[in-house]
Amino acid sequence: MSEQRLRIAIQKSGRLSDGSFDLLKSCGLSVSRGRDKLYGRVQEMPIDILLLRDDDIPEFVADDACDIGIIGQNVFEEEILNESHEAPAEEVMKLGFAHCRLMLAAPKEWCFDGSLMLEGKRIATSYPALTRAWLARQGVNAKVVMMKGSVEVAPRLKIADAVCDIVSTGATLDANGLKPVATVFESEAVLIRNRQEFSPEKQAMFEALLKRIKGVMTSKDAKYVMMNAPRSAVPAITEFLPGADSPTILELAGNPEKVAIHAVCRESVFWDTLEELKKLGASAILVLPIEKMMA
Ligand code: PRP
Ligand code: ZN
Repeated sequence: MSEQRLRIAIQKSGRLSDGSFDLLKSCGLSVSRGRDKLYGRVQEMPIDILLLRDDDIPEFVADDACDIGIIGQNVFEEEILNESHEAPAEEVMKLGFAHCRLMLAAPKEWCFDGSLMLEGKRIATSYPALTRAWLARQGVNAKVVMMKGSVEVAPRLKIADAVCDIVSTGATLDANGLKPVATVFESEAVLIRNRQEFSPEKQAMFEALLKRIKGVMTSKDAKYVMMNAPRSAVPAITEFLPGADSPTILELAGNPEKVAIHAVCRESVFWDTLEELKKLGASAILVLPIEKMMA
């Protein structure tokens, strides 16, 4: 790999990988990769993709084997708490996907009445540092048992009394006779970068990519809204439109009393919003998706 290419670490398969590929695609980047390959190459920009296990990503980025990475905050925070690196990578921005929670979960038959119930118990987890930090905040002494995977079977195998594991739909816990009892950490995907200074070329590429990612994220909920309305209703409608800057007001041919209002709404536009606009005098309301946006 050439020094000038930006190297991005993303998860090979699992919770983050589809979202990571979708994000790159929305940024106009297509990745060519062979089956089970470690590397991918972006066609449109000098970018290389490294496909890794999520747990390896913080280390690869911190050790400068990659420039940036997409990782769950759960994995990243665990790595930071473990302090296994002198210069850990740095979080650049949240990416708004792969939301999940690290949760304390106990057998369904427990009547859980607060964290003190965990005193003296054994808790199995793949996130020992986050779990210990939470237990300390709760003032509870419990034994943390580190497991690399299949944490949810630990109580059945009598390896532990409870678990601290990632929950997204809750199906895994449910299938294993467990119930979530407390939230230890809330997580989503984040972009991280190593702390080394990039070469000017790389820095420029990194900034261009960040701009595209920000554009994708702001246009996610954004809609282009058009409607007709009496001139007198313009102030009230402008005031009401969710997350819109100054809208464009256009004359309607042959109808001096009415205007067309066009606006970019940066927040969600619901059916309620349309009904409210109608009440304010709007008619012929159109809501269009926005594919790309750049400030
Ligand atoms: C987590 C966790 C469960 C599953 C829970 O694993 O360990 O296996 O997700 O999801 P659910 O609530 O939707 O059933 P993760 O995807 O983080 O995989 P990894 O630990 O192998 O990286
Ligand atoms: Zn993992």
